[in-house]
Amino acid sequence: MSESFLTAEEIRHAYSVLRPVVKRTPLQKDIYLSEEYQCNIFLKREDLQHVRSFKLRGAYYAISQLTEEELTRGVVTASAGNHAQGVAYTCYKLQIPAKIYMPVTTPRQKIDQVQYFGGDYVEVILTGDTFDESYTASMAYCQEVGSNYIPPFDDRDLIAGQASVAVEIFNKAEERGDEIAYLFGAIGGGGLMSGVLSHSKRVSPHTKVIGVEPAGAASMKAALEAGHPLELSEIDKFVDGASVGRVGDIPFDFISAMIDDVMVVPEGAVCTKIIDMYNRSAIVAEPAGALSIAALEEYRDKIIGKNVVCIISGGNNDITRMQEIEERSLVYEGYQQYFLLNFPQRAGALKEFVSDVLSPGDDITLFEYVKRNSRDSGPVVVGILLEDKNTYPDLIKRVAAFDPKYVEINKNPMLYSLLI
Ligand SMILES: Cc1ncc(COP(=O)(O)O)c(C=O)c1O
Repeated sequence: MSESFLTAEEIRHAYSVLRPVVKRTPLQKDIYLSEEYQCNIFLKREDLQHVRSFKLRGAYYAISQLTEEELTRGVVTASAGNHAQGVAYTCYKLQIPAKIYMPVTTPRQKIDQVQYFGGDYVEVILTGDTFDESYTASMAYCQEVGSNYIPPFDDRDLIAGQASVAVEIFNKAEERGDEIAYLFGAIGGGGLMSGVLSHSKRVSPHTKVIGVEPAGAASMKAALEAGHPLELSEIDKFVDGASVGRVGDIPFDFISAMIDDVMVVPEGAVCTKIIDMYNRSAIVAEPAGALSIAALEEYRDKIIGKNVVCIISGGNNDITRMQEIEERSLVYEGYQQYFLLNFPQRAGALKEFVSDVLSPGDDITLFEYVKRNSRDSGPVVVGILLEDKNTYPDLIKRVAAFDPKYVEINKNPMLYSLLI
């Protein structure tokens, strides 16, 4: 393995610093997933880490490597997510002043968590409408006072800290005498999987390491295709931890050289897994934390009979997002359907629609129209929750008979985001 990647000594040192600080999170066999995929699936439960994500590891190690003199000038970061919590927790533990820049749009709950972990050592500065604006402000401050910027993923020490996730995984596997055939984990900016690969490829070269990105922000896939990191023109921020427009330069070098596959999974599939994990095993995974599980479907045939590890990288799932998560899952699975229809504006039309178009177990979840007496018919947005998604082809035939000019809103993302 090239020495431009992390050395065994760098990883060992990072783990020796982190060992007394981080939780050695469990590597648990999940019986439901193991049965579903006919293999042994082990979950690395970083949702149970302090601050509920692996992000503490890299942040703590990177800050711990600053010199005494650097530490007197405090640290600065810009983040609206788990990295901010990792930095805040570290600064409280090490009693270092930190300024954490967050966009003004950051949900209150996240601001409160950062402030809670950081106590008096952390000042949260709300500035800018977007992450980029708060990042620019944080860098300007950093340069002005000579403070230390702690990046979320593009930093060698930080990556060495994230490698400790893999150290624990392979130590535990060795203790149990298990060979790991596949290891799945999320890619945002690429720090986590750079660290994981650095250790995994050294101690277990046969383990296939798969990075997983959300379809709405597949910046590592795009970088691999282009041969260098590049900025995506648009990203879907739904999988917030892993929605990064441009991957880091160091992570790109590490990942492009070592990864076995980078998979892209739809946000709806991630939502289904979040719900399944909660319902079956009471595991609260945030969207980025569930990416690794959502990737299994594609690997179904390859993993049969093997030992597989999925990193549940975080569990900071805001309860107020559950409704959206359920909706996205139902749409993705094909149960929730939306149509734009031309509806006759006369008494009894809705009753006819229900009896002629719906199956007995189907439910109307949305019906929006404005009655205009001057017209014979008008557009209606109607949501139908199917009892059995396999009845969709029959439903479509009946919808077409009702209005031949019907529009399937699910198939038009722009219309969907406008109307639903
Ligand atoms: C829960 C969770 N998973 C995965 C990631 C992606 O990590 P990285 O940016 O190091 O690739 C993040 C990043 O914030 C995260 O918070």
